[in-house]
Amino acid sequence: MSEIEKLFDEAQIAQRVDDMAREIVSSLTGPFVVVGLLKGSFIFIADLVRGLDRAGASPRIEFMRLSSYGLRKESAGEVHLIGDIPTDIAGQQVLLVDDIVDTGRSIAYAKALMEQRDVARLWTCALVDKPSRREVEVAADFVGFTIEDLFIAGYGIDYAEKYRHLPYIGVVT
Ligand code: IMP
Ligand code: MG
Repeated sequence: MSEIEKLFDEAQIAQRVDDMAREIVSSLTGPFVVVGLLKGSFIFIADLVRGLDRAGASPRIEFMRLSSYGLRKESAGEVHLIGDIPTDIAGQQVLLVDDIVDTGRSIAYAKALMEQRDVARLWTCALVDKPSRREVEVAADFVGFTIEDLFIAGYGIDYAEKYRHLPYIGVVT
């Protein structure tokens, strides 16, 4: 049986997400499209886009789904696209949003895909960064929280499809 030990509570997350939204709006000029990576970022994006609105931005919102870990804590090492955005984004400014940058494979894959599609400018954003786990050299432009090598869940993030519904983020023990 795994348990969850609280790491970031609702108020801490709300504050950080709002600050990130302001950082994003002060760095990006002109219209942009938020491209969220499902499923882990769904709650983060819901809060982030409302923060972006408060900070004065009006982004379009699209989602892509990449293959997941399955039921384990370790990635299979290969990323697949299992759900694409339906529209052409060539020439647009894109903000890619993921829940966690761990080995870096997912965000690197999504970045490469966006670049192939000739986006005008590409930015990346992750709620959580685990730099000590990196296997592919990649960094997000906007990061909410930087953590050690811990396995976390809650606030959209799962462990074997559990805990996504939790309003806070905890360490799976
Ligand atoms: P990467 O491709 O190894 O960077 O992994 C990114 C994806 O792995 C994230 O979008 C998460 O879905 C998942 N992941 C990485 N670390 C964790 C974790 O601590 N808890 C739950 N999922 C994680
Ligand atoms: Mg994910």
